[in-house]
Amino acid sequence: MNRRDFLITTSAATLFPRIALASAPMELVAQPVTAQILPEGEPATPMLGFNGGTPGPVLRARQGDAFDIRFLNQSGEGSAVHWHGLRIDNAMDGVPGMTQEVVEAGDGFEYRFRAPDAGTFWYHSHNRSWEQVAKGLYGPLIVEEPTPPDVDHDLIIMIDDWRMTEDGTLADGFENMHDQAHQGRLGNFARALVEPVTQVRHGDRLRLRLINVATDRIFPVELEGVEGKVVALDGMPLVTPQEMSGLILAPAQRADIIADVTSATSASFVFPTRDGPYLLGEIPVEGANTTRQPSEISVLTPNEIASPDMDNAVSLTLTMEGGAMSRRMMQGMMGGDIWAFNGQSGLTDTPLHSFERGKTARIRLVNDTRFPHGIHLHGHHFFEVGADGNLGALRDTTLVDADETRDIVCVFGNPGRWLLHCHMLGHQAAGMKTWVEVA
Ligand code: C2O
Ligand code: CU
Repeated sequence: MNRRDFLITTSAATLFPRIALASAPMELVAQPVTAQILPEGEPATPMLGFNGGTPGPVLRARQGDAFDIRFLNQSGEGSAVHWHGLRIDNAMDGVPGMTQEVVEAGDGFEYRFRAPDAGTFWYHSHNRSWEQVAKGLYGPLIVEEPTPPDVDHDLIIMIDDWRMTEDGTLADGFENMHDQAHQGRLGNFARALVEPVTQVRHGDRLRLRLINVATDRIFPVELEGVEGKVVALDGMPLVTPQEMSGLILAPAQRADIIADVTSATSASFVFPTRDGPYLLGEIPVEGANTTRQPSEISVLTPNEIASPDMDNAVSLTLTMEGGAMSRRMMQGMMGGDIWAFNGQSGLTDTPLHSFERGKTARIRLVNDTRFPHGIHLHGHHFFEVGADGNLGALRDTTLVDADETRDIVCVFGNPGRWLLHCHMLGHQAAGMKTWVEVA
């Protein structure tokens, strides 16, 4: 098997998790599982998962509903669950050593929270995440709008890659220093896991919820056989829907698309690469919808977000440094010292900044490295500031290219201690993380 070659199969439906209604109390059990990552007929892969599979169950609830999740850790390793993108109580954020103790093997933890925002989110292990997420400890979390948009199908698509060996096991070396100093752990296998669906017809209107759950790989995604718009990013509705072309998902980023099926045979998810396009997955199309009338793609109802007070905003700079081929090599290049923010690798006792609750901050993200980074802030969404200086999309993870500078604006309204880190999890493992406090 050539490491650079993806072997693509579209029979991934068996991997797709079952739906659990999260509004009722439920158990979420982390445990060893096997999954058919390689094509049928090839060996299954020993991994970690939730409730018997990887990805874990689809957690679905209505906006404002209470989640009551009893996490049981049968994985054999310490773990904890983070609810990525949910603006919830700090104590429920799932970060060992910061918001809770690590949940030791055999122990449990009760996560209770209300989801304030409707949208597409996900959950994943936040202990040794570069290894536990790579092994499969993640799943989708969907919060439905009180009035969902008018579509024929609402489908989750999780995009992942895995580094496989020929005998079907995951390659080890989760802390490989060469990977960490470059783009992270990139897989030799990639797939879009498409939620199984009964008959999709030509002319149907689809809502597609794309989630990049890969530890380190950035996926540009092209959609074929459908025509539509991106209506939300990282769970937050866009004021003006965007074109689908040029869609790029950094690790942890999501995009909601509303699109009409224009093909009579299939709708497909394509990963354009230097070696040509790779089919990540597809939805078969059969028959025609003859009743749906053509209509504009509607804007989703915005979630409630405090408006920033730009006149009194605090200004901060966060400079990404380190990694291979950097102008400024980090001292030593050992363990947690490969990457840094503002010259500091890893977490310190004092936060990068302590914000008074409700304070607006404008943070300049300066990428002084040779690699792109997807920077994620816990517990909040922030505005990306566009090239024109205007506030753009609300996100929880922003992709900053090598040598690029991007400003973000955030109202720090959620009290607690919040991580701010690169979501290329190999970079996070190697020091690219800090934290802020909202008091
Ligand atoms: Cu997706 Cu720190 O998390
Ligand atoms: Cu990074």
